[in-house]
Amino acid sequence: MTTLSLTINGRLYGPIDVRAELTMNDFLREVLGLTGTKFGCGAAQCLSCAVIVDGDDGTSHTKPTCVIPALSFNGKKIRTIEGHAINGELTALQKGFIEHFAFQCGYCTPGFLNEGQVFLERLERKPISRADLEKAIVEALDGHLCRCTGYVKYHQAVRDVILADPGRYLT
Ligand code: FES
Ligand code: FES
Repeated sequence: MTTLSLTINGRLYGPIDVRAELTMNDFLREVLGLTGTKFGCGAAQCLSCAVIVDGDDGTSHTKPTCVIPALSFNGKKIRTIEGHAINGELTALQKGFIEHFAFQCGYCTPGFLNEGQVFLERLERKPISRADLEKAIVEALDGHLCRCTGYVKYHQAVRDVILADPGRYLT
């Protein structure tokens, strides 16, 4: 047993005793009951289990949780799908996913949502041109697998959020 402390969706958890072999996915789902983070391939291939890791420099990135020990997140700040809506108000990206009916079974949705959110925040820090947008969305969502093949709708949802507020995301 080793102790783990981390911040999830703005709330500090720990110190909690965990086994060294406990994965972050099991920690979130089984220990904390945060079941919005899914378990798909279990082999770091589909990214349905990805959460957002926030850096101290204001940047963020996603990271799979299925094969990574919970202890490797010690001291980190992360966000899961449970942390997006504020007081029940969905984010623009969540609404976009719903409007486009971007998901069917929804298993891949938390990973896509986290990745899309990271992408939007990156564009806020560093806007890009409209001409570069389509390629940038493809690259941002690359690696996330959807067995229900919702790729186009996820892409459209992210694009619509950006085009609805171009001054925020585009040069
Ligand atoms: S479940 Fe983690 S990458 Fe597929
Ligand atoms: S909506 Fe079913 S896997 Fe993507």
